[in-house]
Amino acid sequence: MIKGLEGVIAAQTAISQIDGINGRLFYRGIDIDELAEHSTFEETTALLWYGRLPTAHQLESFKQKFINNRQIPYEILSLMMAMPKKTPTMEVLRTAISALSPYDPEDLDNSLEANVHKSLRLTASMPTVIAAWERIRNNQWPILPRTDLSHAANFLYMMNGEEPDPKAAAVLDKCLILHADHGLNASTFAARVTASAMSDLHSAIVSAIGTLKGPLHGGANEQVMRMLLEIGNPERAEQIVRGMMDGKKKIMGFGHRVYKADDPRAAWLQRLSREQAETIGPRKWYDISEIIRKTVQGAKPLPVNVDFYSASVYYALGIPIDMFTPLFAISRVAGWSAHVYEQYSDNRIYRPESEYIGPVNVSYVPVEQRG
Ligand code: ACO
Repeated sequence: MIKGLEGVIAAQTAISQIDGINGRLFYRGIDIDELAEHSTFEETTALLWYGRLPTAHQLESFKQKFINNRQIPYEILSLMMAMPKKTPTMEVLRTAISALSPYDPEDLDNSLEANVHKSLRLTASMPTVIAAWERIRNNQWPILPRTDLSHAANFLYMMNGEEPDPKAAAVLDKCLILHADHGLNASTFAARVTASAMSDLHSAIVSAIGTLKGPLHGGANEQVMRMLLEIGNPERAEQIVRGMMDGKKKIMGFGHRVYKADDPRAAWLQRLSREQAETIGPRKWYDISEIIRKTVQGAKPLPVNVDFYSASVYYALGIPIDMFTPLFAISRVAGWSAHVYEQYSDNRIYRPESEYIGPVNVSYVPVEQRG
């Protein structure tokens, strides 16, 4: 039995490749560094779905389809309005995506063409769900999406009600590119398992959202920010982190099943966090993060992962903490979708075995004879 399936190759993929030894990541063969430098989330999504970078004309048409599919049905907004205001955003997202499937005009069509349309509608509208929730829970009316803003800028606009600073939108766009796919991580595996039973795309994405939510996976970015807030100032950071490590507590944002070197996405996020600290401030979240990193890595050779610096980056953008993991989801839906298409294209149902270690030869005892 291989606990956690470590090292087990459970699928072949042409979508993304991780070089865990050297800390590198490629989407469709292109280094993530190049994409983060030059691409946009919309273009990266097209790359993941269609296997190559789009031409200028294809990109324009793809972006337009995104824009045309930003709105969500009023019934979904009503459903969200009926939810308790304390519901964490990730739970709202999971519920809304499930509820959206009967409203999709191709709901019952599982062809590749229909699935690409469905994931386009989902990817385009997930930011609308999250931004609407932020307003609903604060007793404000949701804001209609704009048609003249990028995916990232439109999300910030819908959440705050004002057009974002282009620099903030550019930072968020980079974050979306960096989170878009990552091999057979837990949520992608969950999506592929669901798809392997020939269930539908919405079900696969709901499985993935439920998995991403966990604090050992995408949920770690929220935990990192809570830790930064709890530490509160750089002077306390080293002592608190040492105490956590002595108490054998896991430090969120560190460790990875595949990376032995630092996660290349973390290097980008570290840079973005530092730039925000130096420009918009306050500095302390970056400074505390740096002390945590030095303390953890001084004690154990643990790689820093994508969730560590994304916390301070999102916080500086004014994003509420319980929206950090949903933000991960609005990017990763691009990768999940590509993996679902890939799974359907050469499917065999996932059905591993378990090793039975329970009692044997136990007789049934009628209820009146049980002690
Ligand atoms: N802090 C302290 N020690 C750690 C950490 C950590 N964050 N991560 C791993 N370790 C230690 C473990 O205690 C264990 O030590 P031991 O061998 O002395 O018992 C060893 O490193 C191996 O750790 P595992 O948990 O067995 O590694 P696994 O590959 O199963 O888990 C995981 C990987 C889940 C990412 C783990 O490192 C972790 O829990 N990290 C914190 C949560 C986190 O940041 N998750 C986000 C990951 S990236 C993503 O999913 C988007």
